[in-house]
Amino acid sequence: MLIKRQSHGDGLPLPSEITPREVFDARRSFMKQMAVASVTGAGLLEFASRDAFAQGAPLAKLAARPNSSYVVMDKQTSFKDASTYNNYYEFGTDKADPAQNAGTLKTRPWTIAIEGEVKKPMTLDIDSLTRLAPLEERIYRLRCVEGWSMVIPWIGYSLSELIKKVEPTSNAKYVEFVTLADKNQMPGIGDRVLQWPYTEGLRLDEANHPLTLLTLGMYGEVLPNQNGAPVRIIVPWKYGFKSAKSIVKIRFLKEQPKTAWNISAPQEYGFYSNVNPNVDHPRWSQASERRIGEDGFFTKKRKTLMFNGYNEVAPLYAGMDLKKFF
Ligand code: MTE
Repeated sequence: MLIKRQSHGDGLPLPSEITPREVFDARRSFMKQMAVASVTGAGLLEFASRDAFAQGAPLAKLAARPNSSYVVMDKQTSFKDASTYNNYYEFGTDKADPAQNAGTLKTRPWTIAIEGEVKKPMTLDIDSLTRLAPLEERIYRLRCVEGWSMVIPWIGYSLSELIKKVEPTSNAKYVEFVTLADKNQMPGIGDRVLQWPYTEGLRLDEANHPLTLLTLGMYGEVLPNQNGAPVRIIVPWKYGFKSAKSIVKIRFLKEQPKTAWNISAPQEYGFYSNVNPNVDHPRWSQASERRIGEDGFFTKKRKTLMFNGYNEVAPLYAGMDLKKFF
């Protein structure tokens, strides 16, 4: 992953630029060959097996009922691609870094505090959170602002189930997601590429939309650390950066919260960040996307769909100028 390291106003670098998948893969395979070339026969075996298990120890199974109302029919992305080509800057800015480095993340014990404008604030441990509502498997498209997409079977339940339990007051208009920022577990926290902790936010009606998934697993198992264990949010009609990983706090607020990428580059990343092929990123087009796993040299890009194809959210934005509120 290439980061444009030029200074940006307050000294923060500009957000990431895209490393095309072919370049990324070619670079990895070159690095692998270099590593292989420099080790003995025994070392080679060890290297190969470590690479195969780069995703760490086997993950616990997580049973969930498939919900046929939320199934994208496109071919699923492989688990390997979904768990080794990640953005999780707390573990480094290269796509391969999170799978390599996130083994240090301690996901148990884990609590999540729900506070702010609610009648029933609560702190839940990860087991209580997992049992709070029936788990569903939903196959969602995830479209990254960088121009790639994946199709992933997530496990979780609508965030609205949790929101119901805490009873927001009439003052609650927004929801903020605060994620873990622990420099002892996260080597990327020393890097000023973003302001930590990574935070994200939604309007309350967006958070309550049934598509918004409180996510605890994927591919039949708990989340791998690099995908945001033990709990993250998935908002499939928004660019992937809205889907905050490893959440420790959910706050209900009167005012719109600040969000990590918006703080870093407000002219590039708005609060809404709905997938929108008609509103380009200032540095690249958003009209099309590369589906990870389909990227042969001559493979055509796919057309990006308004709201990532989730047209049922359109009423949330009725009457809004989506070029202004990007
Ligand atoms: N959450 C945290 N805490 N830190 C991050 O760097 N990256 C975001 C989002 N959530 C990020 C995060 C971005 S840019 C994307 S595209 C998605 O996570 C990627 O999720 P995935 O790795 O599961 O595909």
